[in-house]
Amino acid sequence: MATNLDMIGRHDVNDLEAILAVTNHDVDAIAHDVASNGDAIFTWDYERSRPALGKLYERAKKSQWNAQTDLPWDTDVDQEHVVLANALANGATFGPELDVSDTPFANWGDAEWLEFGVQSQNWTLSQFLHGEQGALICTAKVVETVPWIDAKYYAATQVMDEARHVEVFAKYLDEKLSGHYPINAHLRLLLDDIINDSRWDMTYLGMQIMVEGLALAAFGFIQQMTTEPLLKKLLRYVMADEARHVAFGVLSLQEYYKELDAKEIKERQEFAFEAAVRMRDRFLQQEVWDRMGVDVKEAVKLVMQAPERQTFQALLFSKIVPNCKKLGLLDAGDAWLRERFTELGVIQFEDWVDTGEEYATLDEVAKDREAASVA
Ligand SMILES: [Fe+2]
Ligand SMILES: [Fe+2]
Repeated sequence: MATNLDMIGRHDVNDLEAILAVTNHDVDAIAHDVASNGDAIFTWDYERSRPALGKLYERAKKSQWNAQTDLPWDTDVDQEHVVLANALANGATFGPELDVSDTPFANWGDAEWLEFGVQSQNWTLSQFLHGEQGALICTAKVVETVPWIDAKYYAATQVMDEARHVEVFAKYLDEKLSGHYPINAHLRLLLDDIINDSRWDMTYLGMQIMVEGLALAAFGFIQQMTTEPLLKKLLRYVMADEARHVAFGVLSLQEYYKELDAKEIKERQEFAFEAAVRMRDRFLQQEVWDRMGVDVKEAVKLVMQAPERQTFQALLFSKIVPNCKKLGLLDAGDAWLRERFTELGVIQFEDWVDTGEEYATLDEVAKDREAASVA
């Protein structure tokens, strides 16, 4: 049986020292090579035998959108104004809610908290950008490695979607924000592991279920919180695509996991746990604290105590947990993954709606087009 050390490189899931020791030392590199294992599979069975995937494919074709012309790029974005307006709109106090005397923030004033808000936007959107490129590469791999024709068709539409997502986040960062961040090392480790794995379903589990499930929840949270109209619409449209992508994972793996034995399922549970921990670690924003010149460990320790931080962190798993349940991963074997998700404090989402059911209701592109045709 795999230990924590095997799966995540440390014994204690919450070992802050070990988490922060994982950093990106390669920040000036232009390229990053990863061995992409797994065979490219031709199928001579062209019969359309998977209607659920066929339905998803038809919706994907209809709900394509153009990143250049369907979003209001002429919107002026004043980052500092957005930070203040978001805090005001969401009833948050600007600055810390906790007692910060004797902490690295003791002498921070409004200017520092405002700069932190700006850096936080730059960092968040940069990580979305890098994650989207991971999705682009993973989905191109799915086209090659999945043995079913209906899945190859659908995955091809997702490749186009992901190109558009990389395009919109890159454009938003370049034209509206004030700086990029390199990829977070925890996110990169996870993407490398997903691409490395030679088993075709692991690409789906890592990307469609875990990374995209988390992205769908994170985009939803930010889409609700932001007062900036361009980002709001951009995220609505990206989410419409992401919901299909997660549904693609759920529908495909639901079928495939019925064929696997107990040992194989256990390996999938372990992979899901590894991915969950890596993604939680990436949201500690260690690079932002570093850039702000404060002691990273002290800063992270303080942030982790903030109640709204804990709510946000848990909410990130609101799509992943019900989808893992639908796939039978929560309770398979000795309910190993249920126990891990309980320890991570996210099991409460198990009965939330799964994305295999909800994706059509998130198709905001179709809704806008219908409204425009009625008007
Ligand atoms: Fe995407
Ligand atoms: Fe996606």
